[in-house]
Order: sequence, then structure tokens, then C-alpha cells
Amino acid sequence: MGVMIPTAPLNPGAASPLYLQLQRTLRSLIQANEWNPGMRLPAVPDLALRFKVHRLTVLKALAGLKRTGWVQTVTGRGSFVSDYLPEAPALLDPDSFPFQGSSLRVREDELGPWLGDTLEAAQNRSLVSFSAAFPPTDLLPGDALRRLYTRTMKELDAEAWVYAAPAGHPSYLTGVADWLRDEGEPVPPGWGIRSIPGSQAGLALVLESLTIPGDRVLVESPCYVGALALIRTLGREAVPVPVDRNGLNPDRLASILQKGDAKFLFTVPTFHNPTGMTLSRARRERILALTRAHGVTIVEDDTYGDLRFIGGRTPSFRSLPGAEHVIHLGSFSKSVAAGLRLGYIIAPDAVLGRLALVQEVHTIALPTLSQAVIGHFLESGGFRRHLVRIRKALRERRDAMLEAIQASFPRDAEVTEPKGGMHLWVVLPEDVSALDLHREAISHGLGFAPGPLFFPDGRGTNCLRLNFSTHAPSVTREAIERLGGLIHARPGVSPPKELP
Ligand SMILES: Cc1ncc(COP(=O)(O)O)c(C=O)c1O
Repeated sequence: MGVMIPTAPLNPGAASPLYLQLQRTLRSLIQANEWNPGMRLPAVPDLALRFKVHRLTVLKALAGLKRTGWVQTVTGRGSFVSDYLPEAPALLDPDSFPFQGSSLRVREDELGPWLGDTLEAAQNRSLVSFSAAFPPTDLLPGDALRRLYTRTMKELDAEAWVYAAPAGHPSYLTGVADWLRDEGEPVPPGWGIRSIPGSQAGLALVLESLTIPGDRVLVESPCYVGALALIRTLGREAVPVPVDRNGLNPDRLASILQKGDAKFLFTVPTFHNPTGMTLSRARRERILALTRAHGVTIVEDDTYGDLRFIGGRTPSFRSLPGAEHVIHLGSFSKSVAAGLRLGYIIAPDAVLGRLALVQEVHTIALPTLSQAVIGHFLESGGFRRHLVRIRKALRERRDAMLEAIQASFPRDAEVTEPKGGMHLWVVLPEDVSALDLHREAISHGLGFAPGPLFFPDGRGTNCLRLNFSTHAPSVTREAIERLGGLIHARPGVSPPKELP
């Protein structure tokens, strides 16, 4: 080929993603004058072969070099070293110092397929994506919130524009406490409630306040991908506890707890992300007793708890007897609007005091006006009315998706039937690769969240999480049918189920 390509391998285990490692390697060749201005770069497949990476990784590395001026592309002819090289890497070019000197440990390539799809879905209207768990935009309580913002702005006057109390705006905290009392889950004496900017931030607060790098956090396997990313990013270790058809398995938990070195159990017990399952009261009681006996604190993430379609609430961990070791996270991201960035944390006063110290130095306070608005929304009954509407729509959307899956997925696919929330979980025949299917689906304008994203140890290769909230039933039916067609086109897959 005549062009010098180094043989030093890239390191797939490094914190820095492969495409950035490749980008740095290629840039150093140019800086060292091994590759001169005007030189044609080797073809993408040659680079992929030489560096033992996927072609997409090469394309991503080249895109970065183009953006920063090291490489230019001539349509139909290929990529060339730029004639006019940048003087030096731009001081604030994030690619030039990814995570160096930082305590962060995140591997962008691990989350790439999901993030890429999510971002693409936000921009690309022709992609029908079932990957992200957002409230349906056609069901946001826009009119009610607009009216409440105007009214609350007038009522608060200058107070709307100053810091709220660090624990939260009083009308918000009262609104949440009253709502929970009416739901049969009052905040008990000796416990407190604080405002947080969503439950993701609540988990970050708990981890930063009560653990140190290296601590072990038990997680459901599969687990909410945002929690996995956070635990890893902060340098804590996520230890998987298997989930069966009825949620977190207490027997498996018991044997893992025997090892005795875990600090927390993070769980999404109601309308679990990603499976949609809800843990029974009996399992909750057993898990509560087991964790108490081993001195492990439960962090209960109830982000989807208000979105049940039928029946009453399954009691949360924190409301059961003997729950002194529970921290509860709630959020309005799924039940009202994710852009509000409002949630709450409930914990024994002593724990809350510890969290307060860290939260105040991080955040100072949460948005005053939005908290007061949601306080009014709760107290006026607007939230309850909104829930009636959104629960009905979500149920219809779940039913549409389940029917379409029944009609067009392979006979031996297993599907959960959530009683609330926004997503369901599909286990495909073992030899179907969810990541391959995902790549193909994207090229057909279809998106979903592939299973391996949700496992700390890369399992779930034949699983998918499908979010049923985003699209109208007619769109879902058509897209699921097409997805079923793609699954059937894979070798060795059995024919679709027959409708009764
Ligand atoms: C289980 C779970 N927890 C937390 C979050 C993040 O929620 P928030 O917007 O409240 O930070 C999500 C979002 O998808 C989730 O699914």
C-alpha cells in the first residue's frame, strides 16, 4: 500500500473509546510528518483491518479528524491529510483530552448504540423509535402547565426569581407529601422529603454522599442503563442480581448477600426498567428482611410508580414495616414532563441530613417557579386528572404493541405484560443477536433498545426493550409488524404466532 500504518494495537479495555484512540493515533502520524499534507489516507476497510476495529469506528475517528481540520474529504476520491494543518489541537477540543486526569470512567462505545439511536430519534422524524422512555408528547399537560406558570409567576412575584430553600420550595414539598398521603404512602414521622432534579440526580447524590470509589452496589440484572452508567462513571462496582419473571429473585439475592461486601441494593421495583415487571409485596418483604440482616441499604427508584393501569399501588419498600434502611426516589419526569427536572427523595432524617450537605454544595437549590407550579398542580387535583388521561393512553398503547408482537414476532419469543409504566421486554430465540438486529432496524427506520445495554456483564444478547409510550397505536402496529419481518428474515427463526 506504500503508506505507513503503525502496528501498535488499540486497547479495547481502556476508558477511552476505540474511535478516540484511533483518532489520536492517526493525528500523531500527521503531527510527526509520517503522513504529509495532501497524502491520501488508506481506505476505511484497510484501516479497520489494520487496527482490528469495526469500519464504523474508523468512520467516527475520521469524522473527528475532519471536524478539527486534520483531514479533508474529496467526494468520490477519498480522505486526504489537509493541506493546511491546524497549528495545534484546539485548547478546548474535548477529543484531545478525553477524561484525562478525571475520576470519571465511562465508555462511550458501550452506550453508543443506544445513545446514537436516542439522539437520532430526537432529530430524525422518519425513524420510528421505541428506544427511549419519554412521556408521549401528545399527552403532556401543556395547557394546564401554561396556565399554572402564568398564575404562579404573578402570585410569587419577586420570589419566583430568587433561590428556593435548599430542601425544596415549601409548596412543592407540601404538594408531594399530601399526594403521597392520599395515595396511602405518607412520609412517616422521623423521615423527611427533599427536592431533587430528577431521580437520576437522586441516585448520584446517594452514591456520592454515602459510598466511595470501589464500593459494590447490587443491581437488578437487567438494570436501568442510566444507573449502570452512573455507578461505573463514579468508579463504584455494579454487581448483578438476576431478575426472573417475577422481578428481583430473593434466593439469588440471599446467596450474593452472603459474600457480605455490598453497600447498597439499587432497585426499580414497580414497572421495572427495562422489563416492566412489578415485584410482589411478598418478595419486597423478603428482600427487605434480607438486606436489613446484611446491613445493605435499599435505594428504591419509583420513577414509574404513578403510571399504573389497573388496581392500587403495590406498597413501596419504604412504606413496609422494618424499612429503616430504605431511600426512596420519586420523579415527575415520566408522569408529567422530563424537562421539568423535578423529583423527590424520601429517607430517614439522619440520612437526609447527610445528603443535604452534599446536595447544597452541588446544586444550591432547584428552580423556584417550576417547583411552585408542580406544587399547585398536585394540590389542585390537576395531576390526578392528568394521570387518569395518561394512564388510559399508555394502556391502549401497551395493548397495541402486545397485539402486534403477538401477531408478528416468532412463536417462541417471550414478552412481558407490564401493568403500568412505559416499556416491555422481549426475549427472542437465542441465536438472534439484538445488536445485529438493531443495526439492521435502524437502516429500516426502526429503533429499540438492545438487551446487552441493560446488563453489567454484557448478557441479554437476544433481548430487546420496547417502549410503548411514544407512538400512537396505529404507528406502533405498523412498525412492530416491520420489526417482526426483520426478525423473521434472520436464519433459523420460527414463523409468527397465530392469532386465536
Ligand atoms: C428507572 C429510571 N430511573 C430514573 C430515570 C431518570 O429519571 P429522571 O428524569 O427523574 O432523572 C429513568 C429514565 O429513564 C428511569 O427509567
